[in-house]
Amino acid sequence: MRVALIGFGNVGKAFIRLIYDKRAIIEKNGISLEIISIFNSRGGMYCHKGIPLNELIDTIESNDAIENSAFYNSLLDIDYVIENGNIDMAVIVTPTNIITGEPGLTYITKLLSKGINVVTGDKGPILLKYNELKSLAKKNNCNLGIGCTTGGALPSINTGLIDLAGANITEIKGVLNGTSNYIINEMEENNLTFQEALTKAQVLGIAESNPTLDIGGYDTATKLVIIFNALLTNNKTLKDVSISGISKITKEEIQFGKSTGYKYKLVGKCKQVCGDWELTVALEKISFYDSLYNVDGKNKAVQFKTDTLGDITVMGGASGTTPAAASLLRDIINMKKGINFIDY
Ligand SMILES: NC(=O)c1ccc[n+]([C@@H]2O[C@H](COP(=O)([O-])OP(=O)(O)OC[C@H]3O[C@@H](n4cnc5c(N)ncnc54)[C@H](OP(=O)(O)O)[C@@H]3O)[C@@H](O)[C@H]2O)c1
Repeated sequence: MRVALIGFGNVGKAFIRLIYDKRAIIEKNGISLEIISIFNSRGGMYCHKGIPLNELIDTIESNDAIENSAFYNSLLDIDYVIENGNIDMAVIVTPTNIITGEPGLTYITKLLSKGINVVTGDKGPILLKYNELKSLAKKNNCNLGIGCTTGGALPSINTGLIDLAGANITEIKGVLNGTSNYIINEMEENNLTFQEALTKAQVLGIAESNPTLDIGGYDTATKLVIIFNALLTNNKTLKDVSISGISKITKEEIQFGKSTGYKYKLVGKCKQVCGDWELTVALEKISFYDSLYNVDGKNKAVQFKTDTLGDITVMGGASGTTPAAASLLRDIINMKKGINFIDY
């Protein structure tokens, strides 16, 4: 399998390390995986016979820039590689832009138009154009894996597509943002103010220096829209979601909730109201009897209500760049096993 990797940041590097460490399992799954091209924002690497993985690992381990590699060319054109690289699979881990979807959207569109399979962690293109991209993949007889976009290791999309097959989903409810959940949990367990908990999360590298997307509820809303559109074949956008974040909650409210047997969680929810789907992201008081009650710390979970399979909650999955890379590998292996993600 000839693979191009677009984006060589935290997840891109973790992906290379992972496929090196997991080469025996990958081979056992009948995949002979070669990285033939890697791009970052300044150019790329290309080797028709496959870039030696040990050389890439050395570059990553020594924190050397890929620009110093003999295979790197700042003038290398992605279009050239898409046209002439004989690629079977592209892994897209470019930065998420929820307004334009770029640069990932253009790359994914070109790759699917050429009949090249794509797995992506970039949420922007999937949030904005999933149905169009799915149609393009169908038209060109290739596959599109999006499992990494909705919680990385948490198998939210796969559970909905594969394990709920044949059932109608009547409600989806999820704790989908580990950073917000960590902050709330710190306020609850260590009696911190919102600001103290946020600062702690930033010091530990759990929250970004600009935490707006996480604490404002936009990351949860993005994942919710992607899950909803993928599983209910719909076309919702962020504008269809009523979004509120966690920054207004006080430690007194959280402590009062705790003393009365409730925990606050930032919940993304899709439910039917008078025959129409309503999508919301808001803080909810979760009772002890709800399976989301035990989703603590950076943990995530998604709960499906269905007509015939009952209620199913999937919880956990590690956070971080290696689990995110592992969710990309999971999609690649499942594609090789014959799962056609776009036909479900
Ligand atoms: N981090 C996680 O745990 C996680 C989990 C699930 C999903 N994701 C998603 O995975 C994606 C990657 O995350 P990350 O943490 O690896 O981000 P990152 O560290 O910022 O890396 C992004 C990479 O994309 C490259 N890039 C930017 N513009 C490009 C362009 N026009 N053409 C080609 N490459 C370009 C960057 O190049 P330079 O190196 O030149 O800047 C960089 O190598 C994001 O969309 C994120 O939302 C991340």
